[in-house]
Amino acid sequence: VGGDLHPVVLIPGSGGNQLEARLTEGYKPSSLTCNRWYPLKKDPDGWFRIWFDPTVLFGPFTRCFNRRMKLHFDPEEDDYRNAPGVETRVPYFGDVQGLLYLNPNLKGITSYMEPLVKSLEKLGYRNGENLFGAPYDFRHGLAAEGHPCGVGSKFLADLRNLIESASESNGGNPAILISHSLGGLLALQLLSRSPISWRKKYVKHLVALAAPWGGTVKAMLTFASGNTLGIPFVDPLLVREEQRSSETNLWVMPSPAVFNTSDPLVITPNGSYTSGDVARFLEDIGYPEGVGPYRTRILPLVLGQQSMRPPEIPITCIVGSGVKTPEILFYGEGGFEKTPEMAYGDGDGTVNMKSLLALETAWRETATNQSVKVIKFHGASHASILKTKPALSSVNAEVSAINAELKKTLVN
Ligand SMILES: *[C@@H]1O[C@H](CO)[C@@H](O)[C@H](O)[C@H]1NC(C)=O
Ligand SMILES: *[C@@H]1O[C@H](CO)[C@@H](O)[C@H](O)[C@H]1NC(C)=O
Ligand SMILES: *[C@@H]1O[C@H](CO)[C@@H](O)[C@H](O)[C@H]1NC(C)=O
Repeated sequence: VGGDLHPVVLIPGSGGNQLEARLTEGYKPSSLTCNRWYPLKKDPDGWFRIWFDPTVLFGPFTRCFNRRMKLHFDPEEDDYRNAPGVETRVPYFGDVQGLLYLNPNLKGITSYMEPLVKSLEKLGYRNGENLFGAPYDFRHGLAAEGHPCGVGSKFLADLRNLIESASESNGGNPAILISHSLGGLLALQLLSRSPISWRKKYVKHLVALAAPWGGTVKAMLTFASGNTLGIPFVDPLLVREEQRSSETNLWVMPSPAVFNTSDPLVITPNGSYTSGDVARFLEDIGYPEGVGPYRTRILPLVLGQQSMRPPEIPITCIVGSGVKTPEILFYGEGGFEKTPEMAYGDGDGTVNMKSLLALETAWRETATNQSVKVIKFHGASHASILKTKPALSSVNAEVSAINAELKKTLVN
């Protein structure tokens, strides 16, 4: 069955799928509001949707969210874990259901990969048959070799199995991976960490939308002053703790491999910071806990062999351009709590252009057996690239072209 299409596996970006939590005896509420009764609506086993839940919009509940979502780095274990008394799980692995909307009761405002899925359906793709989803706990990243990384490694193993079974149930055709944002970094890591024989057998192509290959200056803003999670009315300082604790946020700090270490990215009355000064930056903004993991787990991953080794699987980068993107942050006497002045440059509003183009730049001249194609959409933002017609049409055109090759070989 289904032998005439390459199966597609969707890998969302950070915050791009639903996440569930459950509170156990060990949970210590940070305030009365955050007691175990909240939220009222839980399944019989106590599970509730923590991402995305609209109560995060209201100050006291924003604080609960912050504490419950926060990861804790354990230096003894050299790994991240949940807050005490909080269990989390990712619903619908393998399925697109968890990434169509961040909350199925608020389909309109939390639509995520729904337009992409609708568009792929026009080519004959069907959830569970030849179309699969790989949601994950987007707070956890991957670490450099030799460091334990329980949740991230488990995800890569699950993703590898999903790709194998997708291929096997589709006539042995290798899969097309379609990622958004952070999903692209995970997909590239999966490829780099798999033998060439596996890659050739199971993966036909990676279509990466808006991947921050070399990180983004905006991540420094997130660490310094928090961000609103893309939701209006959320006080960024109320969720800053949670955002700082997320390993994937450390992963998208501007990479010294992509942002020239002589260019200042943050300027303050006391001095400036380049991509080479991220550890000192973490220290100075008052997040020294991040320095250890950044130095030992993230930096070697970002600069190491595994990060930018051409996987010899064709890659198409679909990116937005021409949207004002923070390039330099200027902090005044008020310190890092105050919103900085910014100088802007080209990008998709979140990711700087040089990061979006980093694979092409790195491999254009030196890499053999590696094709990287870049398709740019002027005015498409980091989020809107998943929704605008021209970008979705280009995803379909890429997928159709790959499937057309397959049809040719089937006919011959
Ligand atoms: C980084 O910038 C410096 C100073 O502008 C320049 O001399 C150097 O060639 C740049 N390095 C890279 C790798 O582009
Ligand atoms: C600059 O240094 C002063 C004195 O150490 C400190 O109070 C202030 O917060 C610093 N400002 C920034 C933006 O680093
Ligand atoms: C390119 O691919 C060919 C055929 O698979 C292989 O023999 C060769 O070693 C590859 N070149 C590099 C530089 O990896």
